[in-house]
Parts: sequence; C-alpha cells; structure tokens
Amino acid sequence: MENKEISQAVISRLPRYFRYLGELKDEGIERISSQELSDIMKVTASQIRQDFNNFGGFGQQGYGYKVEYLYEEIGKILGLDKTHNLIIIGAGNLGQALANYMNFERRGFLFKGMFDNNPALYGKKIRDMQVRPMEEMEQFVKENNIDIAVLTIPKTEARAVAEKLVRNGIRGIWNFAHVDLNVPKEIQVENVHLSDSLMKLTYNINRFEQESPGC
Ligand code: NAI
Repeated sequence: MENKEISQAVISRLPRYFRYLGELKDEGIERISSQELSDIMKVTASQIRQDFNNFGGFGQQGYGYKVEYLYEEIGKILGLDKTHNLIIIGAGNLGQALANYMNFERRGFLFKGMFDNNPALYGKKIRDMQVRPMEEMEQFVKENNIDIAVLTIPKTEARAVAEKLVRNGIRGIWNFAHVDLNVPKEIQVENVHLSDSLMKLTYNINRFEQESPGC
C-alpha cells in the first residue's frame, strides 16, 4: 500500500465502514458494490470510492468489493488485527460504565486494570477487575504490556496523570476529561466529548426547523 498522508476526515469514516462491513459479513453477504454500500450507509458511492482509493482501492470496478476482505483490510488499517491492552484511570461513573461495556473486547480492546486515587474504591470489583491504587499503576503497565490508557478523571487531574502515563510507556490516551493534554507527539490522544455530539444534534434540529418550518 502506498505510504501517503491520509486526511483525518477519511480516517474518521473508517470505523463506520468497518462496522457496516462487519454486519454484512455476519449476514453472510460476500460481495457488495459501492452503490449498494452507499444505499445502506447513506454516503455517496463516489465518496466511498474516493475514500477507498486512499488505500489502493480494495476492489474491482464493476464487480464490487469482497466484504470479508474489505472488512479485514480496514480492520488492519485501524490497528484491529492485533489486541490492545487498556487500563482505566478513574473508577467513577464513566470509568465503571466503560469497564462494563463488553463489546470493546470483541474488537480486541482488552481492559486489564482499573486505577483510582480514592482509597474507598480500592479492591472494588468491576466486572472481573479490581480497582487498584495509583501507586500500583507503573508496575502494572510494565507487567501487562499496556498500550492504551482511558482517562475518566476530573480535568484538573488529567494533565498530571497523562504525564505519568507517558513516562510509563503508554502509547495512546483515550481522553474523556474536558482538557487538552500536553503530551509528546509520539503519544496519540483521542479526545472524546459526548456533548459535542449532542450539540451537533441540536444544531441539526435547529437547522431543520429553520429550513422546514411547521413540519
Ligand atoms: P466521577 O467523579 O464519578 O469519577 C471520577 C473518578 O476519578 C473518581 O472515582 C475519583 O476518585 C477519580 N480520580 C480523581 N482524581 C484522580 C487521580 N488523580 N488519579 C486517579 N483517580 C482519580 O466522575 P465521572 O462522572 O465518572 O466523570 C469522569 C470525568 O469524565 C470527568 O472529568 C467528567 O467531566 C468527564 N466526562 C466526560 C464525558 C465526555 O463526553 N468526555 C462524559 C462524562 C463525563
């Protein structure tokens, strides 16, 4: 595959392709044209072809794409052909909710440990994990080959904890705290703000009401 810079917009669409293709694969569908994929996903066929062309095209024109092949190739691009070991920092409401969501494991994201600085939570069992004190984090990361940390702590704490994680060899941070982290460029950070998604929803409600009054 050609090694060129892929835009973030294309990358942000890949998980959605991956999800739809996974569903098609589970339904036993072997081939799909870009037009059929377009109808299901409500993305234009030309957008799909353009996106896939960034990775060499994946399929034969006029004959459609092989669903399983495409699913696996996109999975590889997304780094899903290997498992990832995760820890959660912050065993509060959000940390516990994420730990309890089993579907991450189907995709190869394995939650190995959970940490907090509140002694009242130490030893508490969330699914098959016990909440551990932060003091144990460093050794745990080394012994369990942890590559991703999930940050579900208050924003006032997030930067200092992120620095500690980086010092201990974490490669990626899934950051739910509402603050931008200062980490070296070789550390990947994905910020998640559920309220951004909610604001997009209210924008679309407003836009629809303005464009189609009385509907
Ligand atoms: P919570 O208060 O239930 O849990 C936070 C946990 O972090 C507590 O157990 C606390 O003891 C622990 N903690 C605090 N400082 C720590 C430190 N230095 N090291 C280790 N653990 C520490 O809060 P909740 O509701 O779970 O939210 C967690 C964070 O996620 C908050 O910053 C909140 O604003 C944010 N959040 C973000 C969302 C998003 O869409 N990005 C959605 C919901 C919450």
